[in-house]
Amino acid sequence: MTGHKQPYYITTPIYYVNDKPHIGHAYTTLACDVLARFKRLDGFDVMFLTGTDEHGQKVDKSAAAKGIDPQTFTDQVSQNFRDLAGHMNFSNDDFIRTTEERHKKACQALWNTLLEKGEIYLGSYDGWYSVRDEAFYGEKELIEKDGEKLAPTGAPVEWVSEPSYFFKLSAWGDRLLKFYDDNPDFIAPPSRRNEVISFVKGGMHDLSVSRTSFKWGVPVPGDEDHVMYVWLDALTNYLTAIGYPDVDPAKLEKFWPADLHMVGKDILRFHAVYWPAFLLAADIAPPKRVFAHGWWTNEGQKISKSIGNVIDPYDLTERYGLDQTRYFLLREVPFGNDGDFGHRAMVSRMNSELANDLGNMCQRVLSMIHKNCNAAVPTPGEFTDADKDILGKAHGMLDTVRPLFDEQAFHKALEAIWSLVGDANRYVDEMAPWGLKKTDPARMETVLYILAEVIRHVGILVQPIMPDSAAKILDLLVLADEKRGFEALGPDHALAVGTELPKPEGVFPRFVDPEAEGEKA
Ligand code: MSP
Repeated sequence: MTGHKQPYYITTPIYYVNDKPHIGHAYTTLACDVLARFKRLDGFDVMFLTGTDEHGQKVDKSAAAKGIDPQTFTDQVSQNFRDLAGHMNFSNDDFIRTTEERHKKACQALWNTLLEKGEIYLGSYDGWYSVRDEAFYGEKELIEKDGEKLAPTGAPVEWVSEPSYFFKLSAWGDRLLKFYDDNPDFIAPPSRRNEVISFVKGGMHDLSVSRTSFKWGVPVPGDEDHVMYVWLDALTNYLTAIGYPDVDPAKLEKFWPADLHMVGKDILRFHAVYWPAFLLAADIAPPKRVFAHGWWTNEGQKISKSIGNVIDPYDLTERYGLDQTRYFLLREVPFGNDGDFGHRAMVSRMNSELANDLGNMCQRVLSMIHKNCNAAVPTPGEFTDADKDILGKAHGMLDTVRPLFDEQAFHKALEAIWSLVGDANRYVDEMAPWGLKKTDPARMETVLYILAEVIRHVGILVQPIMPDSAAKILDLLVLADEKRGFEALGPDHALAVGTELPKPEGVFPRFVDPEAEGEKA
């Protein structure tokens, strides 16, 4: 096929640099990485963006608490997020920092556009602000605990009274509701969409979009006593990275509107209400979709620094393995729901689904080929109905999982692939190729050929989730790099009979649980 590849632009939230990365950060970016990899394999021209959110009062305070200037502080912490991306095998195409010059220019350009269109005016803000949430709250939204007023998220709030520029958010309610109506897939999952719609229907106040009480932000053009509200600054990163306003018009044209902003449920309002309102007001198309995923707890408990149960992604991958962690995080919880991280659940999936179901199947089949077929891809004969069934399911698997990935239902996509793995295990047991060696060696070759083809399909399809392990599987089949894309799925690129195969090695180690061993004793 000639012509241009279809673009696909996916973004993670940019992370606050007040803290070191934890499982929540790794999770959001992992989901994006899997989609980015899936789309690349499926022939799209992908732009996958992540980065760090470095301005605002929260970061300013964290730097002050460490006794260093905010620039030095953000340089250090931002690097931790870059390192995490490398460690987790994330395939982002760019890493943006909001302290970069390109980003300041983009923010100021958007600001000027909003100002010219009469969407921003100068006033003064008297109200509640939460530094932890970097959010303004109305009196009615606050909750009281032990006589203290708190944000609905439980974060402390402080009273702010200062001159401020405002964005005319109150005027955008009906237009936003119409936008949601015209674009039913804009907010996912559907429960979240309903939440956003009722928030907007409840009526909105104008939004304070500048602060004067600290300096760590993008200066408001023409009024340098003010820095921009950190969320207006942060959201603009999605435009900066593709060349807004005039750095790279072709890239901007190609990748905007973004296909997907992935966010956690706590920051949906900023992405699904404020961001499209800013964009519509500036005459820029809103993104196509915002997906809000749930939150992880640790062994049933809310994760918090004060409890001391923060899950460190480095610890997880060291203990269980990188691909095992990647698999578990996307398989354990229906994507969009909250989920609990539990050691037992992790070990159980790692051992039963990876080591047994997929790992053993590959090992058994490839060892039989190695021993009984001169260590080369066997020659198939006539196919029986059972052969055709399982092969057909493998050939059709991309069509089964593509719509599931497109709706970010990772758990369902993995379930579908593992149903093929389950079929393959049953097929091995039923066909008992080890017994055919003496009675019907030609039939044995056919059975092993079918299984090798199923392994090829599974190996190609799990690349987005477990890139290293999938590569090992595909190496065992001596598949050339150019045969690993999704266009190689199906019968046309079947394994070449007679290709020599290496001695197989286990791909998914079992986790031997010292705790469980102790319990048995
Ligand atoms: N800087 C803003 C985003 C600006 S985007 C224009 C921000 N940063 S954050 O570092 O606080 O959070 C980033 C992401 O981590 C959010 O999507 C949030 O939902 C996610 N998580 C933080 N803790 C989490 C869990 N315990 N579980 C899952 N994800 C969680 O918000």
